[in-house]
Order: sequence, then C-alpha cells, then structure tokens
Amino acid sequence: MSDQLANKSAGWSGLFSEPMDELVKRYTASVDFDRALAEVDIQGSLAHARMLEAAGIIDARDLSDIERGLTQIRQEIEGGTFDWSLDLEDVHLNIEARLTALVGDAGKRLHTGRSRNDQVATDIRLWLRGTIDNAIDQLTALQTSLATLALEHAGTIMPGFTHLQVAQPVTFGHHLLAYVEMFARDAERLADARRRVNRLPLGAAALAGTTFPIDRQRVADALGFEAIAANSLDAVSDRDFAIEFCAAASLVMIHVSRLSEELVLWMSPAMGFIDMADRFCTGSSIMPQKKNPDVPELARGKTGRVIGALVTLTTLMKGQPLAYNKDNQEDKEPLFDTARTLLETLRIFTDLIPGIAPRPERMRAAALQGFSTATDLADYLVRRGLPFRAAHETVARAVREASDRGVDLAELPLDVLTAFDSRIEADVFEVLTLEGSVAARDHFGGTAPARVADAARAALDRLAAR
Ligand code: ARG
Repeated sequence: MSDQLANKSAGWSGLFSEPMDELVKRYTASVDFDRALAEVDIQGSLAHARMLEAAGIIDARDLSDIERGLTQIRQEIEGGTFDWSLDLEDVHLNIEARLTALVGDAGKRLHTGRSRNDQVATDIRLWLRGTIDNAIDQLTALQTSLATLALEHAGTIMPGFTHLQVAQPVTFGHHLLAYVEMFARDAERLADARRRVNRLPLGAAALAGTTFPIDRQRVADALGFEAIAANSLDAVSDRDFAIEFCAAASLVMIHVSRLSEELVLWMSPAMGFIDMADRFCTGSSIMPQKKNPDVPELARGKTGRVIGALVTLTTLMKGQPLAYNKDNQEDKEPLFDTARTLLETLRIFTDLIPGIAPRPERMRAAALQGFSTATDLADYLVRRGLPFRAAHETVARAVREASDRGVDLAELPLDVLTAFDSRIEADVFEVLTLEGSVAARDHFGGTAPARVADAARAALDRLAAR
C-alpha cells in the first residue's frame, strides 16, 4: 500500500487530522464484498486510461505503465495473491493504490477526470450486464428442459385444477408449457432491463462532469455501452436499473416458486403424480421411509430473499437527494445475492426437470375423480340447441345423480342420462371420456395433444434460435 494512502486510512487529502476509528473503518468499508467488481473495474479503468491518452490528457508512457500495472493486478487477483486492504475501503481504492505502488506517477494520473461515483456506477452496470446475459442463457436452458418433457408428455392426461379442486382434464405437457411461457416473459423482461443497464455513466465524475476534454463516446464504444448517460447528476445517483433487475429476478423466482409448490404437491404420496430423481431429494433423520423434495422447497424459500433484495433496493433509493450518497454502497450485497440465488436456482432446475418421472396412471386416476368432464357434457347439450345456462343446470343435476351413485358421469347408463335431457344420445360417451375431453380443445393455446405437441416443438425451435 502506498504511504500517503496508508496513513490517512483511504487516501483522503491532508484535511483529516486524526485516523479513522476502527469500527467506523469496518462499518464504511465495502472491499469484502465489492471486490467481486474487480474485473469490471479494471476493464473500466483501461477504457478510461486509453481515452485519456487519445484525448492528450495523459501521455503514451503513462498509458503503457497503467496498462502494464492493471494487467499485473488482474493476474494477482485471479491468482489469489492480491493483498486486499480494509484500510483502502473499497475495490476501487485497493486497485488504484496497488497500481501506484507498481507504476508510480502514472497510477496517480489514472483518476484524472473521474470519480469513484461514476466509476462504481460504471462497474455495477458492466457487472449486471454480464449477469443478465447469464440469466437469460440459464432461462433458455430451463425452458428447453421443460419443453422437452412437455413434448414427451403432450398426450399424458392429468387433472387441471382451479382452487386446487379437479376442474377439467389437461395434459401434463400443456401444464409444463405454461411455465415455458412464464419464463419466456421473464427472459423478455431481463432483455428489456438490459437496455437501460447498458448506458455509460463514466464522464459524470463526482456529479457535475469534468473540466477535461474527455471523449465519452470512445469509452462507451470500448466497453460496449449502447448509449451515454445524458445527465451527470442522474448518472452517478440512480440505481433504478438495479431495481429493475431485482424486480425481474423476483418474477423469475416467483415463477420458480409456483413450480416448486406444484412439484412438492405432485410428489406427495397423496397425489403421487411424479417421482423426483434422488439427487434432488433428502431423507429424514428419524423417519426411514421419507424422501423429501428439498430442492423445490428451498427454491420456494429462497424466493423470499430475492423479493427481500428488491424491497431493500427500493427502500434504499426512495429518500436520497441528488446526487451520489453513500447509501448506494448498500446496493451491492442484495444485488450480488440476488444474482447468485437466481443463477444457481436456474441451473439446478434445468437439471431437475429431466429427472422428473411422471406417473400417468396416478394422474389419470385423479382426473377421473371430480367429474372433470362435466363442462364437456354441457357443451354437448349446447351443440344440440340448449342455451348454455340451461345446460349448466341440467349437467349439475346429472353430476348429483352420479355422485349419489358413486360413479363418474361416463359410467351413468344412457337411459339415466337421456332422462335428464332427451337430446343426449349414445355418442355422448365420446365427449365424456378424458381423451375426448382434451382432444376437443383443439385450438391455438388449447390442451389437445396435437396442439400441445405443436406448441412444444415451436417453443423448442424458438429456444434453439435464441
Ligand atoms: N464504495 C463506494 C460505493 O460502493 C464507491 C463510491 C464512493 N464514493 C464516495 N464519494 N464515497 O458506492
């Protein structure tokens, strides 16, 4: 660590007359977590230094010293030999101090026309851009797992539920494709948020811009930013882009959590719709017979911390006057935690889905309970001229009769059915079967096996092209 930086804690000018309190030092330092930004911090510094040289603000020797120093620092960090210091507060000051120790005055020139305020905003945006790209790739992989299983089970019949009561038969493939749709919207949301993440704050300096003839477009091009933040005060202060990411991540996790809840229910012996590969389950320390779906339960639980991070960041932002305030240092841990939770969850679920073994006979047995084809009988009567409300009433009475006899609608004798309405004929049994019921929902977005297979194939094609 360079002497000047060491003796005044983190390199503040001669203004300070006493060293920082130890607890305050730890309280204000962020290096323990923001070192995760080291790689993007170096990328940002290289782009800044090259721009300074091109604009004639530093000379070619300074630039080559800076490049050499930062390259060595990158290797030290990657190799685990970099000496991180709490005295130097954060990742930015740690790297800058090391650079000066390595290359002397050139290192002290790097911060010309720049502040940690625009530096950190740039770093977070670069880091988040990469995180979003990873998350979208992971979503694609998870959707591919789901659509593949959906195609295999385009014709596997299960009960569809409303209010968790058996409602109408659907296919397992159709049910899985509902999640493919949810995750497709999630990927869209992330891609949309990325556009607003991908704007360059550097050049805003502390808050008001800089007196040096900087070339912000050059820096933006070097770092792959699509646009330049148009107001220096806004550039250093807002974290709305991080909030957007946390909101999008929360929705992904909410969808994962709903899927998890269903997996847990389906795996419960009372339903028994699926079995899950052992590697995603654990046993009980006391009950030898137990196989618990721990992974979906944990994912459901971890959804809470991701939503918590969204609440943290929105609350962090709401009371801040322009421009930069130290509050913003608190954006990092929730953001990093969200990214880790999201990416790990998506990766695990991508593997978990192909490990699901559906039990079609259990699904079928459940679909046969609860008169799930009652709507089909009503529709049958409507096609024979009865108004829908009247048909609804007639079928309700037939359901009651079947219920009293302890049989399904399809098991009522034809003469019993005909007694409810003379329009009912022998062909009624075609619509009262589970197969007849799902096959009849033969339109775009419907659960007919042929439609589900088409939808699964279309999804797989879209995913392969993404
Ligand atoms: N560690 C700080 C952060 O994360 C960097 C910016 C500090 N700027 C300042 N003026 N204290 O926000």
